Amino acid sequence: MLDFITVILAAGKGTRMKSKLPKVLHCAAGKPMLQHVIDAADTAGARRNIVVTGFGGETVRKTIGDSAEYVEQREQLGTGHAVLQTKELLAGERGTIMVLCGDTPLLTAELLARFHEEHVQAGAKATVLTAIMPNAKGYGRVVRRASGEVLKIVEHKDATPEELEIREVNAGIYCFDAEALFSALERVTNDNAQGEYYLPDVLGILRDTGEKIWAVVADNYECTLGINSRSQLAVAERILRKRKVEELMADGVTIIDPKTTFVDADVRIGMDTTIYPFTLLEGDTVIGEDCCIGPHVRFRNAVVGDGVRAHYAYVHDAEIDGGADLGQFTHIRPDTHIGENVKIGNFVEVKNSEIGAGSKLPHLSYIGDCDMGTGVNMGCGTITVNYDGKTKFRTVIGNNAFIGCNSNLVAPVAVGDGAYIGAGSTITRDVPPNTLSVARARQKDIEGWKDKRK
Ligand code: UD1
Ligand code: MG
Repeated sequence: MLDFITVILAAGKGTRMKSKLPKVLHCAAGKPMLQHVIDAADTAGARRNIVVTGFGGETVRKTIGDSAEYVEQREQLGTGHAVLQTKELLAGERGTIMVLCGDTPLLTAELLARFHEEHVQAGAKATVLTAIMPNAKGYGRVVRRASGEVLKIVEHKDATPEELEIREVNAGIYCFDAEALFSALERVTNDNAQGEYYLPDVLGILRDTGEKIWAVVADNYECTLGINSRSQLAVAERILRKRKVEELMADGVTIIDPKTTFVDADVRIGMDTTIYPFTLLEGDTVIGEDCCIGPHVRFRNAVVGDGVRAHYAYVHDAEIDGGADLGQFTHIRPDTHIGENVKIGNFVEVKNSEIGAGSKLPHLSYIGDCDMGTGVNMGCGTITVNYDGKTKFRTVIGNNAFIGCNSNLVAPVAVGDGAYIGAGSTITRDVPPNTLSVARARQKDIEGWKDKRK
């Protein structure tokens, strides 16, 4: 595969988003639009990605991090001016520069790879990706000769009434020969309706000096849609999610109702897992094979083993090992590791804890800051009392301990291996292994009390 360098334009504010966040950082399918573009470019063979930042540049850098290099465009004087800012960073680079926009999250790696290949095969100095738009309003129009040869691109605001009839538009994606690009950019002027330095003018300039310019028509205009408003963002979201569930089904995941299953772009799911309706799988969630997930599950950055069952559960930033059973109304909070074949039942919350293999927490518990061994049985209503109003303390429970119903384990406290806790106990001291500990008021029976009361 031939490689290329991308320049991704992301300096604009995105006024129509009406947002404090730079437009390119708005998420679709759980990932910033700009990251979608970078990921597609990487998969298609990009060797370097240079992002041109402006509005909210610092936030863009922080969010996207090392997956790109950055150049600042202090004033937004147009797309041509934006690309020119990369001249120094790209000095000495030969070969293809692919220019992309940071607000086109629907681009696919296949499309970019094919586009680059056709540019190379055509032997052109510049190739533009075009699309046939049902509604071309706002886009630059592609003006061709009767022979089909591309003459130039005319911006909507500069177009004649005849040119406005053209439905083939500039998708805002180009391949350039590096040297030809920067020499032509020096000659771009801002003599147009918007007083901006237009990148598409490079095509006309190169053509006028006898260089070959070329156009590739995208077979699906949807992939090239640029997002300018929240309403368009919702359209992108829907398309990306549909693509994702189709991909998963093609890879052997059963999705009972794709319409009510929301899976972020980077989520991975193993074969023969079934996803029931009203389920959200978000962030970096990874799910194993043969699981039954849903209905009504939300997993966010969850790492889930094989054969896990979960319904009516919310798990975030936690790890669930194979064979575990969650739900219903289960909340697994960050920094929790649930061991193999653990059962966590109705109305149970677990936070920052290790739950050993085969342990059971079937009903109505709060377990926070706890190191629990294997084979533990937590009776209904058992609580770790982990907070004194200032500091959080840990509870340690040994293997095969049996905690009676409605007990309070007041941390810091440890219950030994095989220990038993009588139901209703409030445990404040460590319990040695294999010991029965009962910490509650003794029952007192007053005989004939009812008769005396009369
Ligand atoms: C641009 C194209 C138009 C094409 C359309 C496709 C130009 C002059 N026109 O128009 O032919 O049909 O894209 O969507 O290029 N940007 C900067 N710095 C600037 C100006 C823009 O980084 O000074 C960035 C924006 O943040 C955005 C991208 O460049 O990501 C495109 O800019 P935008 O203003 O949206 O151009 P359009 O008018 O859509
Ligand atoms: Mg635009």
